[in-house]
Order: sequence, then C-alpha cells, then structure tokens
Amino acid sequence: MIIIAIDGPAAAGKGTLARRLAGALKLPYLDTGLLYRATAKRVLEAGGDPADALAATGAAMSLRDSDTARTDLRDAATSRAASQVASIPAVRDALLAYQRAYGDANGAVLDGRDIGTVIFPHADVKLFVTASVEARAKRRQAEFAARGETTSLAKVIADVAARDEADRGRAAAPLIPAEDAILIDTTSMNADEAFAHALAIVTRKIQP
Ligand code: CDP
Repeated sequence: MIIIAIDGPAAAGKGTLARRLAGALKLPYLDTGLLYRATAKRVLEAGGDPADALAATGAAMSLRDSDTARTDLRDAATSRAASQVASIPAVRDALLAYQRAYGDANGAVLDGRDIGTVIFPHADVKLFVTASVEARAKRRQAEFAARGETTSLAKVIADVAARDEADRGRAAAPLIPAEDAILIDTTSMNADEAFAHALAIVTRKIQP
C-alpha cells in the first residue's frame, strides 16, 4: 500500500502535481483541501460563522460526497472560510478518519497541509511543495482568469499570504514540513518540470 503525502502552502501547485503523480503511479488521488472547503461552504450557506466550532464541526461530521463534488468551492471567500474551519481541532478530528480510510483502502496520493505530519506520518514519500508568494499568487490569478474571474495580483497575494499565515500559525496541525519531507521549490519550475522532478524523487524512494 503506497501512500504519497504532498503538503505545502496555498497555490503551490500541489493539486496539479498530486493528480499527475497519481495518474503515473496508478493510485487514487484525494484533494483533502476539498473537505475543508466543502465544510466551510456548508456553514456559509447555512448563514453560519466559519469560526463557530459547533456549526463547523456539525458540517464536517455530516459531509457527503455531493458536498465535495461541488464545482464552486475555489472562490476567495470559500478559501478564507476553509482556513477558518481548518483551525478548529474538532473539525480536523471529524475529517481524519475519512482521509485515513481513503488511503488505507488502496494506497493514495493525498495533498493538503498535514498529510505527512498528522494523517499519514508513516507515508512512503513526503513532499513539501513551496514557491514564492508572488509565483503562487500569479498561478492562482491565472486559475481565476481561466474561470472568467478578474482579480488584481495585489489582492491575490494578500489573500494567499493571509491564509498561509493562518495555516502556519494555528495550534491544530499547523502547516509545517514533516522532518522527513523532501522540499520542492517550484518558483522557477513549470508544471511539467515540477512533475518530472517529483516523479524522479518518488520513483527513487519507492523502487530503491
Ligand atoms: O488549493 P489551495 O492550496 O489554495 O487550498 P486547499 O489545499 O484547497 O486548502 C484550503 C484550506 O483548507 C487551507 O488554507 C487550509 O487551511 C485547509 N486545509 C487544511 O487545513 N488541511 C488540509 N489537509 C488541507 C487543507
């Protein structure tokens, strides 16, 4: 059972990389950020406050596949709210078993913030993917543009930086590289280069 943990800050290219690695290795792929985004969306749509532990934990505990399958989870407000619900320990606890069961079923590539530190501390390979805040914000801005949303780079940089600060500073499962994680800085790599680099690392690790 192969588990590949990919963690890192917002918009570092984890999702693209994880999806491509999963395809190459024929492993299932779980975007764990979607669990937090879907939890946040449910709270927001019920008119609740994403910082309200009871409301957020209730939403996390009753999450369904149809919630995470939504295509409207990537806007700035949902991202911000996702980071808020993600700082609540009971929310993280409610989502932990699902993530472990997903990986334990057939092995998996999972991307998130705490996969290598909390969810799968014994993962076969742990990658920590970073890039400068400017490079990450430019990629996120391009994703917004592809969906027809125009946002200034300054606003995207501010959003991404604020979320990183919250994710790094929280007490519950803060964003931090696992001790045995391999760092990949993709600031000057395109998606193909990052994939080739990561695949070489993973192949070396799992087929010594
Ligand atoms: O795509 P992006 O990197 O911007 O975000 P994401 O991976 O979808 O995660 C959205 C938010 O959920 C993050 O800012 C974290 O606060 C939270 N998250 C988390 O705490 N733990 C995870 N394993 C995944 C996401």
